[in-house]
Amino acid sequence: MTPIKTPKKLIEVALPLDAINVAAAREKSIRHGHPSTLHLWWARRPLAAARAVIFAQMVNDPGYERHLGRGVNKEKAAAERERLFKIIEDLVLWENTNNEEVLERARAEIWKSWRETCALNKHHPQASELFDPETLPGFHDPFAGGGALPLEAQRLGLESYASDLNPVAVTINKAMIEIPPKFAGRAPVFGSAGVSPAKNWFSRGYLPHLDHPGLIQFITFRLADAIPHDVLKRLIEEEADDLERSRSLEKLLDHGYGECQLADPANAEIVQSALLHFNEQRYRLLAWVIMPNHVHVLIETLKGHGLSEIVHSWKSFTAKEINRRLGRTGEFWQREYFDRYIRDERHLNATVHYIEQNPVKAGLVRRAEEWRYLGVYWYRESAGETPALPGLEDWSGARGLAEDVRRYGAWMRDQAPSWATA
Ligand SMILES: C[S@@+](CC[C@H](N)C(=O)[O-])C[C@H]1O[C@@H](n2cnc3c(N)ncnc32)[C@H](O)[C@@H]1O
Repeated sequence: MTPIKTPKKLIEVALPLDAINVAAAREKSIRHGHPSTLHLWWARRPLAAARAVIFAQMVNDPGYERHLGRGVNKEKAAAERERLFKIIEDLVLWENTNNEEVLERARAEIWKSWRETCALNKHHPQASELFDPETLPGFHDPFAGGGALPLEAQRLGLESYASDLNPVAVTINKAMIEIPPKFAGRAPVFGSAGVSPAKNWFSRGYLPHLDHPGLIQFITFRLADAIPHDVLKRLIEEEADDLERSRSLEKLLDHGYGECQLADPANAEIVQSALLHFNEQRYRLLAWVIMPNHVHVLIETLKGHGLSEIVHSWKSFTAKEINRRLGRTGEFWQREYFDRYIRDERHLNATVHYIEQNPVKAGLVRRAEEWRYLGVYWYRESAGETPALPGLEDWSGARGLAEDVRRYGAWMRDQAPSWATA
């Protein structure tokens, strides 16, 4: 059998690990446009890491290899590696996910290495089949899971094949790798569909931790006229139970009483900018929604900045700005605000869900993503590996998967009537 000449790959020699690690960690908190929003999958690899390792596995190391008679001397190889590192450092940035210039540079390197490999093996008896310089090798992932690897291989110009024993993973891969390329470049069915109404549905790079010394706080504040004073007074007098009272208040708020000044995008923009302004300095913003007459915010408080100071600064700044804009004076926000600290992860999940779904529940949009003044920076961390199929009663991963499938099924069932009438 004729041996195959295999140049050493970059990944076998060196990688810019710091850049890859930073990008991979940052990605965990990115929601808008990330495949994890399609469906959460345990053990999904970060796209940045997947992209970097596939590139480094496809690209030949520049170092000299005497037995193959290829490569360059030590100094030149070091300089060349620096150049390749720069490509990886650009490649792993989330902002460059669809940057064709960066991707093209990476694809060109992959082709160059492949052609070098083909040239080395041109006398191989099966060269025409195995070492065609015009056809890159296919990428096969038989354990594709959430599909990070085949997706990134496809992005780097390789033909991708994905499979998995688990039908959920297969569905994810079909939806992500097989179907989209068939429709790539086609005009949207609805003329306006290319314009995302949810520009602010994005995330910034940090990982919130439940064990942070600061508490996580759910805060609600409302416009001065959001709840008529007599109704509010009656509620406070009649409803002894704190929780029941706040539920009744929520319901009232969603009716949209008053002038609903925050339905005006310019006013909502002012509030949203204020929430973002001191993010990471005075608090960490986890989620927020600006409704027509009230605002919900979920933050992690940081040392040295009390909750009332934070809320006061949001309210006073935005009241002044909006009043100035509207050419009026007087009370803009209702004086009191509601706050509740988050007890545990379940409570956190429920609160983020509540925030996300508030515009839907209030009948303002059909899907949360359609509401412009809504953001979730918080990432639902999922841990552990999953077995191929659910069903092992004593294994928490399997139970998680089964629950996920059930929830997804229930969601589809609930949504189906609206699709039928759409
Ligand atoms: C670690 S996960 C893969 C994660 C994936 N690289 C990603 O980024 O999401 C391993 C996958 O292997 C699948 N798997 C386990 N045993 C398998 C088998 N015998 N045949 C095919 N797939 C299997 C599991 O269902 C799971 O999706």
